[in-house]
Formats: sequence, C-alpha cells, structure tokens
Amino acid sequence: MTAHTVARSMEIYARARQLIPGVTQLISRRPTRAALGVSPIYARRAKGCRIWDVDGNEYIDWMSGVGPIILGYADPVVDAAVCEQIARGSICSLVEENAVTLAEELVRLIPSAEMVRYAKGGGEACAIAVRIARGVTGRDRVLFCGYHGWHDWYLAANLGAERLAAHLFNGIEPIGVPRALEGTAIPFAYGDADMVADLLRRHRGEVACIIMEPMRTEVPPPGFLEAVRELADEHEVVLIFDEVSSGFRVALGGAQQFTGVTPDMSVFAKAISNGYPMAAVVGKRAIMAAVERMFVSSAYWDDHVGIVAALTTLRELERRHAVAHFQRIGALLKAGIDRAAQEAGVEAECRGVDAHPGIRFACTDPVLARKLATLFIQENARRGVILHPGLFLNCAHDEQAVERTVEVVRESLGVLARGLREGCIDRLLECPIQQELFRRLVH
Ligand SMILES: Cc1ncc(COP(=O)(O)O)c(C=O)c1O
Repeated sequence: MTAHTVARSMEIYARARQLIPGVTQLISRRPTRAALGVSPIYARRAKGCRIWDVDGNEYIDWMSGVGPIILGYADPVVDAAVCEQIARGSICSLVEENAVTLAEELVRLIPSAEMVRYAKGGGEACAIAVRIARGVTGRDRVLFCGYHGWHDWYLAANLGAERLAAHLFNGIEPIGVPRALEGTAIPFAYGDADMVADLLRRHRGEVACIIMEPMRTEVPPPGFLEAVRELADEHEVVLIFDEVSSGFRVALGGAQQFTGVTPDMSVFAKAISNGYPMAAVVGKRAIMAAVERMFVSSAYWDDHVGIVAALTTLRELERRHAVAHFQRIGALLKAGIDRAAQEAGVEAECRGVDAHPGIRFACTDPVLARKLATLFIQENARRGVILHPGLFLNCAHDEQAVERTVEVVRESLGVLARGLREGCIDRLLECPIQQELFRRLVH
C-alpha cells in the first residue's frame, strides 16, 4: 500500500491562495478547518458515500458535502432526471410545470407550507423570509437563534458588540454591514424561552419575526419550541423555522413534523435537491401571498435543473424510506464510535439525533479541544475516512461504511489516547491546529 499523500491537493491549494481569497466559498470547506497537509482538499469525483481526491486517495465521507447530499453523491435517479432536464433546456424564457408540481409536493410534505417561493441558497432564502416577515408586519427588528447565512440582516447582530459568537463563530467583524442596521438583529439562547419573552416585551410592537433553527444534533428541550410558538402568537410575530440543516433528515416534513410545532414560515435548502442549487421558502398563505406586492425576484430562481432535482430527491427520499435508513445507520455509527472510544480509553461520545449526530470530546481546555479535533481529522483522513466531529448522513451510507469507519475511528482514537497519556499531542500533529476563529482566517 502506498503512503497517503495529498501533495497534488497542496499544489493546487498554493495556486488558489494567490487567486481566491479564503480559498473556498464556504467557510466550512476551508482546508484550514481540517488537517491542512494531511486532509484532502481537491476532489476528482464522488459517488455514493465515497470521494476520490486528486492524489488518487479514496475516502468514506461522512460530511455529505456539508449537508446538501442526502441520497448519496452522483445519485443515479436524480442525475438521470437532471440530465434529461438539461437535454430539454436548463432554463429558458418560460417556466415549467415542474415548478408547480414541486410546490404541490412541498405543501403535501411540510406542515407549515401553504404557499412556496424558490431560491438557490440557504442564506439567501433566510434573507427572503426575513424580508417577507418585515414586509407583512411593517416592523424592523428580528429575534434569531442559530446560523442563518452571510447576509446584512444577520451579521448586523455584531454591530456595536459581538453577539454571534454562540450562534456562528467568535470574532466576526461585521465589515461592510451598514451601521444603520445596529440593533435590528437580536439573538436569543437556544432553549431559553424566558429570554425570548423578555426580548419581545422589551421591544413590544417592534419585532417582525423570530427566525431560529428548530434543532440541530439535539432534540429540543421539552416545551421550548411550544413556548416560542405561543410567544410569537401572543406578540403577533412571524415565527420562521430555518430548516436548511434539519430539513428532510429527522423527518421528511422537517424538524417541524418531528417536533409537532408548526411555524408560520420555513426555509429549506441544502438537502432538498441532493446537491443541485435549490432552496424553498414556504409558509402560511396569509403571509406568503404578500410576496406578490414585494420586490423579491431573481433570474436563476426559476432554473429547471434545481426544481427537477428537488422534485426527484423528495420522491426518492420517500421511496427509499430515507428517515428510517438514517435512524438505523446513524444508531449503528453512534454505537460503534462510542464503543471505539471506550476501547481506546478516550473520553469521547457520538451523540444527538441519529440522522445528524456529533462527536464530542470531554475536554474543557478550548485549545486542547481543537488540537484533539484536528488530530482526529488527521488520523481519520490518512486512513481513508473524512469524518469531522459534526457529520451528516446520506442514503448511500451503509453497514459496510459504518464497519470500516468504526475500525478507523478506533485506530485514530488510539493515537489520541497515546497523545493524551504521553503528553505528546503536539508531536503527533502533522498539520497546523484547525483554525476556528474567524479573525484568524481572514488576515
Ligand atoms: C441553518 C442554516 N441556515 C442557513 C444556512 C446557509 O445556507 P447556505 O450556505 O446555502 O447559504 C446554513 C448553512 O449551513 C444553515 O445550516
């Protein structure tokens, strides 16, 4: 077996650094967030749950493109539908019936959906939802919880003081965001309905919407979403669930179906179309109908490829019983990783909902925690597994992938255990520590 190397990836990376600020467009794909010099950077192809990099290495991948891949890479059914669509024209001066059929499917599947608009990205769709909520209420302030993209309305939270740290990253400077937006985006802590109540009281009559991720890896605390729902009703504030990451994995109708709490509007992107750019903003008729009077318009939002990819993906998720698959494979993976951690003698566990679990190291020192995460990514990568502490399942993950991954994780955690025991984590790291602080990524 030849030694694992990512030399070709690193050559391309050197070229990219000269030309592409930040190197990748999505921060989560930045090589500096993995094990730079050991983790692969550039892919040649991806199929099912596997990726082949430009150096010829093969990996089992648990990141699913950082969320968008839900059926598997290069899914034959979705790709056949996309190819057929491309042959008929990817976009034209007219729209296609599929746009209506997809809206009908979304209304059938998603509890909060009575009317539907389309977009191309998650952050963009959140910005549309916030615009609509501001439009229908005539109010400016937004209460939020979680990550909602890069747009001005959201980054405005960091004007004047740092408020995004618990929701996104530390140290984001709202460079380029108009100062006039200060005070318009106000965060609340996940699980803290009292804080939501307090903010609504303090800003009575000024809040357009509450936009929040209803859940990520953990099931919401009992009564929390219900309490937020009641507060939104009491203050006549639009409740928006951002299901860009939760959508279609815990339940086909999203976290709102899983939890039984129905928002007024919801945002879906990422997994909706198995990797083809597509997003949907859905909501109650009384709210969504107002869009007709607003300027919310973009050429690519009617693109036939994203629409056909979404329609096919949703049908395939149902036909393949995807949610049950995620539960079965996710449970196996979680149990396997926990067993591997015990055997290796590392205090780590894989927890959270089966479809979207996360790996946690019991470590209170934040620098050591980052070192451990980096070493974990490094050791997994050199053994042919792309596995970060946060992961997304897709339908192509199977028992064989779990079995091999657990073997690799056992070995990787064995290296971490030795590093901790012998105090030589730094020596075992063959790459810079994973960069997390945003400020350090942009200098
Ligand atoms: C909950 C949530 N909202 C919004 C976004 C932004 O989506 P996009 O990267 O497609 O703009 C993400 C992306 O990870 C997300 O997880």
